[in-house]
Amino acid sequence: MNFSSHASKESDASSQQFRRFHRLRSSPQLRDLMRENTVTMNDLIYPIFVEEEIDRFVPIEAMPGIFRIPERRLAREVKALAKEGIKALMLFGVSHHKDHTGSDSWAANGLLSRMVRCAKNAAPEMVIIADCCFCGYTSHGHCGVLHCDLIDNDLTLQNLTSQTIAAANAGADIVAPSAMMDGQVTAIRRGLDEAGFTNLPIMAYSSKFASGFYGPFRAAADCEPKGDRNTYQVDPLNGREALNESFADEQEGADILMVKPGLCYLDVLARLRDQSNTPIAAYQVSGEYAMIKFAAKAGAIDEHRLIRETLGAFKRAGADLILTYFARDIARNGFA
Ligand code: PBG
Repeated sequence: MNFSSHASKESDASSQQFRRFHRLRSSPQLRDLMRENTVTMNDLIYPIFVEEEIDRFVPIEAMPGIFRIPERRLAREVKALAKEGIKALMLFGVSHHKDHTGSDSWAANGLLSRMVRCAKNAAPEMVIIADCCFCGYTSHGHCGVLHCDLIDNDLTLQNLTSQTIAAANAGADIVAPSAMMDGQVTAIRRGLDEAGFTNLPIMAYSSKFASGFYGPFRAAADCEPKGDRNTYQVDPLNGREALNESFADEQEGADILMVKPGLCYLDVLARLRDQSNTPIAAYQVSGEYAMIKFAAKAGAIDEHRLIRETLGAFKRAGADLILTYFARDIARNGFA
């Protein structure tokens, strides 16, 4: 057997023995054509922080590029965001009127109501989502009423219902309960329906973990709790329990489910996608944003590539919507 015939036989055979994936990757146009997932502004929700009684934008040190927006400047800022292409906002209030229960959050003219009304009036076509929780409004920083240092779940449900009705009255397009109280979707749905808001969707923070990735947010929203949230948020090491949280919210009537944080919990997201046809949102939280920002500042990674890769991963795992502090960056610089 001579060498050349041996070689040609070998290459005939090999083209049948393995698949040539390179064939569909050979040009940018082919790669565009073959891409299974993409992210557009239609998928993105931009979380913003609104602080009362201040005059200047306050930079959040642990989240480069993110600021607390003075309430007085909110209308102008929302108009600018709409102009840049942001289509949905999640609003977080930074309160100067905290008390034991977080009562300002459901006052008819409290910060939450005012900022929702202001944002909605500034850009009526913008989807305004009210984060409904208490940690930004309570003196102790917990997501509900404390009783002997423990969360009083059922009392908190009543307050949460009042809060979502206040947000609805102010013009919110979606309410997003993030307190992780048991039964919160049932309570809120009933309250909204009785108040005439039968058509208002609930986006439930449903698989929400007790995560170290919320660190920068707690500085941003001034809601570092005394102690921790381990008695009401899901243990990061528990996947099945997190799925049960989402299934419970789905059964209670949640219109959108959420997995939060995003990157470390793609397994939960993918399993939830397999087992539910309800829309799912993934939240790329403050610590995930900070990791990318600071690694890029250190020259260790390419920020734009990581934005694309991480948000793309959420879509690939099954997210319909993504909450991300990078939304404004994508509006300005594109995704691809
Ligand atoms: C409030 C809430 C938190 C986040 C969103 N809503 C903080 C927490 O639960 O401790 C975190 C968002 C982020 O880190 O970007 N319950």
